[in-house]
Amino acid sequence: MSQTLRCIVCSRNYDPMEIRYECDCSGLLAVERDQLWGGPNEFDDRRTSHSDVDSSGVWRFREAVLEVPLEKIVTHPEGGTRLYSRMGVLFKHEGENPTGSFKDRGMTVAITQAKLLGAKAVACASTGNTSASLAAYAAQAGLKAVVFIPSGKVSTGKLAQTLAYGATCLQVRGDFDVAMRLVREASKQLGIYLVNSINPFRIEGQKTIVWELLQDLRWEAPDWIVLPAGNLGNTSAFGKALREARDAGWIKKMPRLAAIQAAGANPFFRSFQSSFETRHRITADTVASAIRIGDPVSHDRAVAAIRLTNGVVEEVTDAELMQAKREIDRAGIGCEPASATTWAGVRKLRAAGVMKEGEQVVCVLTGHILKDTEAISSSAEGTIVEIEPDIALVEKALR
Ligand code: F0G
Repeated sequence: MSQTLRCIVCSRNYDPMEIRYECDCSGLLAVERDQLWGGPNEFDDRRTSHSDVDSSGVWRFREAVLEVPLEKIVTHPEGGTRLYSRMGVLFKHEGENPTGSFKDRGMTVAITQAKLLGAKAVACASTGNTSASLAAYAAQAGLKAVVFIPSGKVSTGKLAQTLAYGATCLQVRGDFDVAMRLVREASKQLGIYLVNSINPFRIEGQKTIVWELLQDLRWEAPDWIVLPAGNLGNTSAFGKALREARDAGWIKKMPRLAAIQAAGANPFFRSFQSSFETRHRITADTVASAIRIGDPVSHDRAVAAIRLTNGVVEEVTDAELMQAKREIDRAGIGCEPASATTWAGVRKLRAAGVMKEGEQVVCVLTGHILKDTEAISSSAEGTIVEIEPDIALVEKALR
């Protein structure tokens, strides 16, 4: 088993034990292997094991994730999320991860790699979920955590969670894209290990969302996998996971990816409309604060993912995604606003005839319902009535 860091533009190889996030040609890097070891039989056997690394929905696939001695793995464990059948589609709920979002799958790998590299401090820019995940895994690994967040733009719950796990929070005056540029500079100049999804090891962990989903479906690929798109790390990871699964013969059919953006934060959608001839950078604004991103760092990797899977990129308005959120919530599952772009996107793609009747569709819900409670209280239809402790008032309220 050997792994290398390979530039996605010029194919130059680098030693994976070198700390680097991009090629000298400034292309993004990917972890590549000559061959994938392990396969469905082994992965399925591990699902019933009681050890942390086997039961982790990330490390169950370890041969295709990271070269590391088992005792060095930093795992909660994570993954093992449920697949729900509701409203005619399947929902893979990544909000069921330890810190309430899919980010834990990439973070367990990035923090394990940080320890292997001997890092003392780790950093990220975040709209709130990456920072909470980073803070939790850094606490477990005994690393200092520094997070750069856009001032006033992160939900109270996510910020509280990040602080509780003990991270140092730098509230940057500016949006996520400004915080992202600052953390990249800071990590270069101050020698802090950067664990945003520009870090190729994050992508390796996030691939396992797709692999666990395929495992849930007994390795019969669905027709569509639908996901929210912000900084585009996940879109990139899904494309890589599908390429590797197909090349290794784990699946016969290639599902199509549908990446959904909020209309106010839609640079990838705009690029898709010109067949990716132009890359767009915008100032983003949407109620879905997790994906309020105008200049996604993993753009190039995500373009490759959409092309490989004959995928599509769609946009949905804030009203559409909040309506979709209400439906997912009322189905008894619940998710944060950014995750609901998936269901809103499915409706739009079905209406446009892109998704056909009878096709199997899986929506990936990326964050837990309690992650962004501000969005719930300002839009929910459920009512709260304050009353004196008097049975007559209870009766009146229920009438
Ligand atoms: N859904 C949720 C709940 C997110 O938190 C994010 C990204 C996405 C979707 C988009 O994924 O960036 O890989 O395209 N959140 C990042 C953060 C930016 O800092 O927590 P992506």
